[in-house]
Amino acid sequence: MKRTRIGFLGCGNIGCGVYRLLQRQGKRIEENEGVSFEIARILVRSKTKARGVEIPERLFTTEPQDVLDDERIDVVMEFMGGEEPAASYILRALRNGKTVVTANKMALATHWDEMIAAARESGAGLYYEASVCGAIPIIRAIGDSLQANRITSVMGIINGTTNYILSRMSREGASYEEVLSDAQRLGLAEPDPTADVEGYDAAYKLSILSTLSFHRHVPVECVYREGITNVTPLDVRLGREMGLTLKLLAVAKEEEGRVQARVHPTFVPDTHPLASVNGAFNAVYVDGDACDEMMFYGRGAGDMPTASALVSDLIKAARAERHALPAVGAVPCEMADDWICEHFVRMQVSDEPGVLAVLAGTFARHGVSIASMVQKGESGTQGRAQLIFLTHKASERAVRSALAEMDGSTVSQVSVIRVEGR
Ligand code: HSE
Repeated sequence: MKRTRIGFLGCGNIGCGVYRLLQRQGKRIEENEGVSFEIARILVRSKTKARGVEIPERLFTTEPQDVLDDERIDVVMEFMGGEEPAASYILRALRNGKTVVTANKMALATHWDEMIAAARESGAGLYYEASVCGAIPIIRAIGDSLQANRITSVMGIINGTTNYILSRMSREGASYEEVLSDAQRLGLAEPDPTADVEGYDAAYKLSILSTLSFHRHVPVECVYREGITNVTPLDVRLGREMGLTLKLLAVAKEEEGRVQARVHPTFVPDTHPLASVNGAFNAVYVDGDACDEMMFYGRGAGDMPTASALVSDLIKAARAERHALPAVGAVPCEMADDWICEHFVRMQVSDEPGVLAVLAGTFARHGVSIASMVQKGESGTQGRAQLIFLTHKASERAVRSALAEMDGSTVSQVSVIRVEGR
């Protein structure tokens, strides 16, 4: 039987999850898959930290070279997280001919070209199912099972923390700050939540997903990003009244040879399958020319869901005769600098004769067609009202230019939220 020697980089929650899963399923994997694993070395910062799982102390080392340069180690599994030193370690392992299995979307998205080139040169494998949406097998699906398709769009809820926050804001009418501080207390959001709430985490994942979907590298710097920190309970509620649910959506589309990749708060119709994805769950909705629409749903984070993807990659790596790398062309991707979608536009206006006509005229001059409009009186704000416009599909740039032209003394507190999924 083929025996694979593994070195771990890191042994926090995820590393311990992998350790536990290999203990739990190792025998079954041997019987079913004909491969066996030996954890040979584990790089840690502290050898004595309590980990909640019995790991022989002799496996621990604080010296990176004991994992990265040891010729007896075949596969390096990385779960340190963050860009550095993880990216340098992954590159060194690949250049040493070691296959790497990683959960690290940040290191992968920011060093994509280098890592693919290093793997190609040495013939090592690079496996990263766990880097996007934890247990959901979306990397394998897009890179392998759906290869026969031209994928036209990928839309996903690919960050559990923000989905938890928005789900509760939507259900309870609570404010962003209130739910965030609850989520932090419950350990569902990091003490510094920036990576999640500002959309960075989702942007790394979308860079990887869109690169695989469109077969051209979509650098993370080209992903448009807006987080959820400015989302108001008022917008969430008004959207609900119009049959719309607010999500932090990652959207990637290829239209006329140009790719758009964007992460931003987005309304989806309540009837869309993504609207029913609540709490910390993730989902990815894929549209392909042959497969049509499909949705992948599951847990995007957590030790065991992430270990599920990591160990499955490990099995695939150990069984591979030859490691496949993603089919991504060398020609740089042409990114769209504008996109067409419906928009929800809310604004506070002076409630006076002629105001609506002027605003509608401004939208019209910029080619933005209004699909519907609702006016809500505002208690406590004499002479002011909330107007909510839903546009037909319109260019983002046109909507922005129309709004920029509106007179600030008549119009205030404007919020613009894209609508997808119709
Ligand atoms: N922090 C991420 C999330 C999980 O909330 O989904 C790891 O990417």
